[in-house]
Amino acid sequence: MVGKAFLLAVSMQLVSWSVAQTYHFEDPKSLRLWLTISARKRFLEVSWRNAPARKGDRVLITTQEAHVFQKRLRPVGTPLAAFPREEGSGSEEGSGNYVPINGYTDPNQSANQEFWVANGGELAVLAGLQPSVGLSTQWFTTGVPFDYELSKNVTAQTHCYGFWASYINEEGDILARTCLKAFPRWMNDLKSKIGELRLRDLFIPGTHDSGSYRPNFDPLLRESLVTKYALTQDDDIRGQLMHGVRYLDIRVGYYRNSPEQFFIYHGITKQRPLQEVINQVRDFVHETNEIIIFGLKEFPIGFGKGLGVHRLLVTYLRDQFQDLIAHPSLNWSASLRDIWARKQNVFLAYEKQAMLDEFPETLFGPVDQRWGNVQTWPRLETYLRNINEFDVARFYSRPIADMAELTPETWDVILDKHGGLRKMSDNVNWRISLLYRDELGTHANIVAADFIRGTTLVETAMDFNLRKIYEDSST
Ligand SMILES: *[C@@H]1O[C@H](CO)[C@@H](O)[C@H](O)[C@H]1NC(C)=O
Ligand SMILES: *[C@@H]1O[C@H](CO)[C@@H](O)[C@H](O)[C@H]1NC(C)=O
Ligand SMILES: *[C@@H]1O[C@H](CO)[C@@H](O)[C@H](O)[C@H]1NC(C)=O
Repeated sequence: MVGKAFLLAVSMQLVSWSVAQTYHFEDPKSLRLWLTISARKRFLEVSWRNAPARKGDRVLITTQEAHVFQKRLRPVGTPLAAFPREEGSGSEEGSGNYVPINGYTDPNQSANQEFWVANGGELAVLAGLQPSVGLSTQWFTTGVPFDYELSKNVTAQTHCYGFWASYINEEGDILARTCLKAFPRWMNDLKSKIGELRLRDLFIPGTHDSGSYRPNFDPLLRESLVTKYALTQDDDIRGQLMHGVRYLDIRVGYYRNSPEQFFIYHGITKQRPLQEVINQVRDFVHETNEIIIFGLKEFPIGFGKGLGVHRLLVTYLRDQFQDLIAHPSLNWSASLRDIWARKQNVFLAYEKQAMLDEFPETLFGPVDQRWGNVQTWPRLETYLRNINEFDVARFYSRPIADMAELTPETWDVILDKHGGLRKMSDNVNWRISLLYRDELGTHANIVAADFIRGTTLVETAMDFNLRKIYEDSST
């Protein structure tokens, strides 16, 4: 009895060597669950909406799909996953007026003798959450750690992996479930439905400062002031793309005397070599045939006032991407079908007019980034609502990116006022998720976030892309 789906099931396309994922248009009123990952401690988060929230309901986390749950009596002393409440990303002060967060793992374990087992006891239940009675929407941070090694094993064939969450009632009936999901080919899987749309017409998940990740980094072990404010993502570019991201925000620095001259640059630090980013995009596109917007902007270091280094960079990009580069004659009005017909899947969107004039065969104009430059959630919320007030798509074919993250000011960084970008993301990512899911998704185009795995933006993008089709075909 998994959540009611409308009849519009997007066609199953048999790709020569893999079965396309099927997407359903979910009734927005049905019970729905999401799994996300917090930025600061990399704990699994689980959230839901439209829950019956009755006494005895539970949300149970497992490492594989559970088909049946049974109640057992707990031998005295069996530990349940437990964690301090204040770790929750949804439990910051002041969150109460938006979504009340006050569920808990069974707080009094010794007094509660009953517990749930999955699949006849073969599958361990890692954590059991008790929804607050009467509250239909909640967002929890569990104490279950997520290991990004799992994320690295995701391939273009992955759908669910790592963790599942099931919402059950007192009798153990599964009312809804979800899993951690990858979206390696969502554009192709939806091809028959979204092929006629322009990039501007889709809800496209993006990342902010996409190249600011560090392989094998553990924020619980090695965090410093620099990593706290320089890193913005936990998956590498391949991981981001595998999980559905299609807009990359690329800020390149130039280092004349370094063997690798082009690097991603963020804040005050060099991040990944641009070559690594390019290789991952290229390999991903070859493997999946997905369409990527590669947004270059800011050029924070080493470019000087002249155009010489820009020329080097554009020539380098051209040599690297070659035939994959979307020719600007496609223009932003091209439908996905037009783009696929040409097999030019990478849009090099470049923020420098003189270069657009010099390389009219290679470069698109920049994606319009709407960036609030604000430090608090109320101001970010106001900003995002304002810019989404009307549907500019009607007037405009160039993609627009909502930059949905907080930005610390220089002195805030030096004084570590906000506790780092991870903490800031945990503070806003669940709220952004709700805001786009419940209100702003209709007109949204690109939405780019920090630590995107702490948001439900990718799934919400799928929902709205499907909803567009459903609504178009029903009117
Ligand atoms: C927890 O269990 C103890 C002992 O059974 C009991 O005295 C106490 O009231 C319980 N607390 C809660 C919050 O249920
Ligand atoms: C990733 O896959 C490899 C090969 O199948 C496996 O040995 C490894 O345990 C996996 N890593 C995780 C974290 O599951
Ligand atoms: C964009 O390309 C289409 C054909 O793909 C063409 O009809 C249209 O005029 C172009 N628009 C502009 C502004 O060049």
